[in-house]
Amino acid sequence: MTNFDEVIPRRDSGSTKWTRYDPEVLPFWVADMDFRAPEFILDAIRKRVDHGIIGYTRPPASLADAFREWLAHHYDWQVPEEWLVWLPGVVPGLNLAARAAATGGEVLMPTPVYYPFLDVPAHCGGQRVDSALVRDGNCWRMDFDDIAAKARTADVFLLSNPQNPTGRAYTTEELQTLADICAEHDVVMVSDEIHSAIILDDKRKHVPIAPLNPSMRCISLYAPTKTYNIPGLSCAVAVIADEALRERFTEARAGLVGTPGPLAYTACEAAFRDRSTWVPELLAYLRGNQDRLAAVAGERMTPVEATYLAWIDVRDIAERQAVEPHFLRHGLGLSIGAQFAGDGWVRFNFACPRATLDAGLQRLADALA
Ligand SMILES: Cc1ncc(COP(=O)(O)O)c(C=O)c1O
Repeated sequence: MTNFDEVIPRRDSGSTKWTRYDPEVLPFWVADMDFRAPEFILDAIRKRVDHGIIGYTRPPASLADAFREWLAHHYDWQVPEEWLVWLPGVVPGLNLAARAAATGGEVLMPTPVYYPFLDVPAHCGGQRVDSALVRDGNCWRMDFDDIAAKARTADVFLLSNPQNPTGRAYTTEELQTLADICAEHDVVMVSDEIHSAIILDDKRKHVPIAPLNPSMRCISLYAPTKTYNIPGLSCAVAVIADEALRERFTEARAGLVGTPGPLAYTACEAAFRDRSTWVPELLAYLRGNQDRLAAVAGERMTPVEATYLAWIDVRDIAERQAVEPHFLRHGLGLSIGAQFAGDGWVRFNFACPRATLDAGLQRLADALA
């Protein structure tokens, strides 16, 4: 059994999360976890280091096999090796995808959304078009009438599936509707599925959007880096069935976006080969954390179906004062909603040991009171 309660000091490791604020502030912002990566991944990296030469390295065929078997095992999706393009991150993949598919046109996305999505249209010389997610009781939904109208003129649709920051794991029906709209209007789907393995709601499962409508041109982006807490290793993979789109994607990277390094390949292969209880244990721990957070945030948040990020309504606080300084005064470093096109909300990352979480929740209770 993994001890997710272990508190590992991170400030002196140069951690982005832990060095942003003064030591009296507890950070619950950027999406990495405060848990040690699993031993089978650390061992694989050590073994690779012991070879002694960390040279330029091509993506090993065994890595592609591991990823293809992982897709088949979890999602019953069979993909040939030639559909895969290895990348040093999902965010570069989003931007390359837009460059490959949007010729200065409209890039449509449901908002609020993980903030690098918002910059993609400007990076590819296109225009950003938002479609607001709608809160329906305990659930955030896409507005399909609005999306269908906007899809008529859009080049690209950017999807966060599961959704960061609202924690939605969309159903097959929702994704089918979306895929059919994009196929009908020949909008290229770019689906970021980095959180696919972090499904907290027992009644949900992750559904890759690409296979739902094969006539939709799609770029799906995956990485095991969130699930196994190795985001600093920067490795991701794009799955692109359409050959012409894949060629444009590959051309767009030339001279700008390199490949991951050998330690990243090794760690990712170990992750894709994992069939141990590490992920189920992680999910059980995260569910417990979510329950503790929900006990404090109450109606302000919707249940987190997927990811380890809660989207919390603080519009009442925002009406009276600036949100970020308010939470910092209470010793909390949170992601501020305005960054995600979600004014008046905050995002709370609850992937940390209970001792850290409980200290943060006392502060959160005071800050929300
Ligand atoms: C939805 C989503 N996509 C992408 C990323 C970052 O991916 P990468 O580090 O591989 O660029 C994150 C990290 O928080 C994320 O939440």
